[in-house]
Amino acid sequence: MSGHRDVVFQASGVTKTYLMGEVRIQALRGVDLTLYAGELVVMLGASGSGKSTLLNILGGLDHADGGVVRYRDQDLAHAGDKALTAYRRHHVGFVFQFYNLIPSLTARENVAIVTEIARDPMTPDSALSLVGLEDRMDHFPAQLSGGEQQRVAIARAIAKRPDVLLCDEPTGALDSRTGIRVLQVIQQINQELGTTTAVITHNAVIGEMADRVVRLADGRVHSVVENPARKSPGQLHW
Ligand SMILES: Nc1ncnc2c1ncn2[C@@H]1O[C@H](COP(=O)(O)OP(=O)(O)O)[C@@H](O)[C@H]1O
Ligand SMILES: [Mg+2]
Repeated sequence: MSGHRDVVFQASGVTKTYLMGEVRIQALRGVDLTLYAGELVVMLGASGSGKSTLLNILGGLDHADGGVVRYRDQDLAHAGDKALTAYRRHHVGFVFQFYNLIPSLTARENVAIVTEIARDPMTPDSALSLVGLEDRMDHFPAQLSGGEQQRVAIARAIAKRPDVLLCDEPTGALDSRTGIRVLQVIQQINQELGTTTAVITHNAVIGEMADRVVRLADGRVHSVVENPARKSPGQLHW
C-alpha cells in the first residue's frame, strides 16, 4: 500500500466491560486501531483477548462503553439502535464460524433474504457464482459440505455489496484444505470488489494473506505489522 490511505474505521481508547452477575469482565481495555479502505486485515490473539468483542463493535452489533469508534464520518459509539441497524444493513457483511444458514431454504433463497432488503444488491445468482457455487444454488444446506455452506454464508454477506466484510473465525470449523478454499473466496472478494476486510483467527499462518496483521492481547492492540507482500491462501500450510 502506498500514498494516501482512506480511513474506514477509527477506534481510539475503546473500552468494553461485560457484567456477569457480580463479576466485571473487561473485554477491551483501550483499543486503538485504524482500518483503511480496501485492505485485508487479519486479527490474531488468544482466546478471550477481545477479538470478537472488537469486531462486533466495529460491525455495529454491540456498543463500546468508552472511547471513539468512527466508521467513515459516522460516530458508532453514540449511534442509536436505529442508526446502527441501518449502518449494519447497508455497509457491513458478517461471516461467522458457524454458517447460520436457514436449513429449510436453498442456497439461493438464503442469499435472497438479504438481497430483498438491500439498496443496491447483486442478484443471488451472481453472489453465488462469485464464490464458485453456480452449480449448487438449488441445494439445501444439509446437501452442502461445511466449506460450501460457508461459501453460501459469504455470498449472503457480500450480495448487498457491503463496504466492509467482517469475518469471525470463518475457517474455525473447517479442515485446512476447505478452510483455504474459503480464504481464497474472501481474498477474491477483497480484490475484485475492493471490500475492506477483517478476518479474525487464532491461526497465525493465516496472517500471511493479510496486508496487515493486528495482534490483540488482554483487551488491547499488542502490535500491528504490515506484511511486505501478502500470500495467496493457496500458498499457506497448516
Ligand atoms: N456477552 C458476553 N458476556 C460476558 N462476557 C463476555 C461476553 N462476550 C465476551 N465476554 C468475555 O470478554 C472477553 C473477551 O471475549 P471475546 O471478545 O469473545 O474474545 P475472543 O474473540 O478473542 O476469544 C472474554 O473474557 C469473554 O469471556
Ligand atoms: Mg471470538
